[in-house]
Amino acid sequence: ELKACIFDLDGVIVDTAVHHYKAWKRLANSLGFDFTEEQNEQLKGVSRVRSLEIILAIGGYSATATEQEKMAAQKNDWYLELIGQMTPEDILPGAKEFVEACKAEGIKTAIGSASKNTLTILSKIGLDKHFDAIVDGNKVTKAKPDPEVFLNAAKELNVDASVCVVFEDAIAGVEAANNAGMRCVGIGQPAVLTEANAVVSSLAEITLSKVKYL
Ligand code: G6P
Ligand code: MG
Repeated sequence: ELKACIFDLDGVIVDTAVHHYKAWKRLANSLGFDFTEEQNEQLKGVSRVRSLEIILAIGGYSATATEQEKMAAQKNDWYLELIGQMTPEDILPGAKEFVEACKAEGIKTAIGSASKNTLTILSKIGLDKHFDAIVDGNKVTKAKPDPEVFLNAAKELNVDASVCVVFEDAIAGVEAANNAGMRCVGIGQPAVLTEANAVVSSLAEITLSKVKYL
């Protein structure tokens, strides 16, 4: 049975992953080391603080807590600069249509994202009124793969985990869905998102009727 669809934001609804990557790469470069797109896979879905820890470990760079706070703030400033020009055209293929199809069939919808910039982004792309619940990085304390963000979304929607399907582009996010006891559609490459129930390249490639039978 399907009663609710819970969507990750970055890389599922909107094309921000590249901006996160560019901002982190700029930070790494400013510290004197490089940061590749392949290494960036480890960061997808992961909170800002945890992402920074991973990057510093990659560069073999040690920093005090105060320095780390400054670095995270600097990265976010650069990220906000990059997403400043975002418009509804940055919505990923099929995302808006899929959310609207849910609404038409009486299936509840939520955002489950680690990003503290969720509301800013949703209003830039004109989707701030489209979801029944929004659980973002300001509402959770444990980062994916912890299931907290998705369990909170189910709670806000007043449904059981067993009737939810999660849409995720990150390895950590797919794991979080599994840990929540929810089915998961991976958005990306099957070779990367091996733990998902199904993997498609975008929400344009899957219909609600298929999702119901996962
Ligand atoms: C999402 C992205 C991550 C990002 C995290 C925190 O999960 O996939 O790349 O680090 O959100 O985002 P924030 O906007 O709060 O820095
Ligand atoms: Mg994501």
